[in-house]
Amino acid sequence: MTPDDVPAAERVSDEGFFELDSRMRRTHEPAAERRTDPHRAVWLERTRHLVRTDPGGCWVAEDGTGVIGMATSFRRETLWCLATYAVLPGRQGQGIGKPLLAAALQHGRACTRGMLSASADPKAARVYHQAGFELHPQMSMSGTVDRSAIPVVEKVRDGSASDIDLMDSLDRATRGAGHGPDHELMLRTWRLLVSDTTTGSGYAYLNERGMPALLAASNRRTATRLLWAALAEGPERTTLGHLTPANRWALDVGFASRLELQQEGYLGLRGMKPPAPYVHSGALL
Ligand SMILES: CC(C)(COP(=O)(O)OP(=O)(O)OC[C@H]1O[C@@H](n2cnc3c(N)ncnc32)[C@H](O)[C@@H]1OP(=O)(O)O)[C@@H](O)C(=O)NCCC(=O)NCCS
Repeated sequence: MTPDDVPAAERVSDEGFFELDSRMRRTHEPAAERRTDPHRAVWLERTRHLVRTDPGGCWVAEDGTGVIGMATSFRRETLWCLATYAVLPGRQGQGIGKPLLAAALQHGRACTRGMLSASADPKAARVYHQAGFELHPQMSMSGTVDRSAIPVVEKVRDGSASDIDLMDSLDRATRGAGHGPDHELMLRTWRLLVSDTTTGSGYAYLNERGMPALLAASNRRTATRLLWAALAEGPERTTLGHLTPANRWALDVGFASRLELQQEGYLGLRGMKPPAPYVHSGALL
């Protein structure tokens, strides 16, 4: 993938995920929606960033009609992560995706750890299992936040670039590798909350919709405080995504704020245990 391919790759990913959401939608859920313009802008900026930092980890498949498949992946220290992976609906299940993933995995061949957030697509689960990833069920909690349940939150402040060293240390302690240059990207596109006290430290990013997108902390107490702060600052209707059973503290907060729990894809891991206290980002892990 080159920077010029990024808009075409975005269209493939939008088509792929819209069709996936329509196909996997449960009967009680609202109809699948197209990617919004603000989300598209974040997607494009993130993918350009990954093509810049990891050109060898980003690939497209094309034929006479143009780009029909894409995969973006990146290395941070000893960790390889898969950011996005999609093939056009109608072209899936025909052997296009597997060589794309193989090319991306080749970029991480020297890494001792691997991490990805898998969709509920049965084809995706199959190829990740075959590639040696352990699949840990992922949950999400959504609904209207019961504001009366939010406790008084102290010792949380807005963060800045001066917190990057602290955040990289927390990343290493929880997932084994700092986010490095991805913190600069997240600081440009998202809002950062930080808690740094004598008893513990942690950080949380709120995405372009004001919902928790990534959280790491040195202990559950600090993680809990940050998640409450994120809910207090966020919209009325929210989603806490990418929760694993290793992060029961996050479910405690979700249930206390009267959100509803459901199962949603998998956290795929190689050479590591599910990070905690940690809520991963779907693409930047
Ligand atoms: C996941 C995805 C990128 C894989 O690309 P693809 O071109 O479909 O993959 P391939 O055809 O190379 O391989 C798919 C595998 O699933 C199998 N498969 C095909 N249809 C299947 C089905 N309905 N259920 C389960 N497995 C199926 C194929 O046989 C193949 O396995 P095999 O080679 O061992 O026989 C693509 O299906 C996709 O874009 N899905 C929607 C978006 C998505 O979920 N992306 C992943 C996000 S984490």
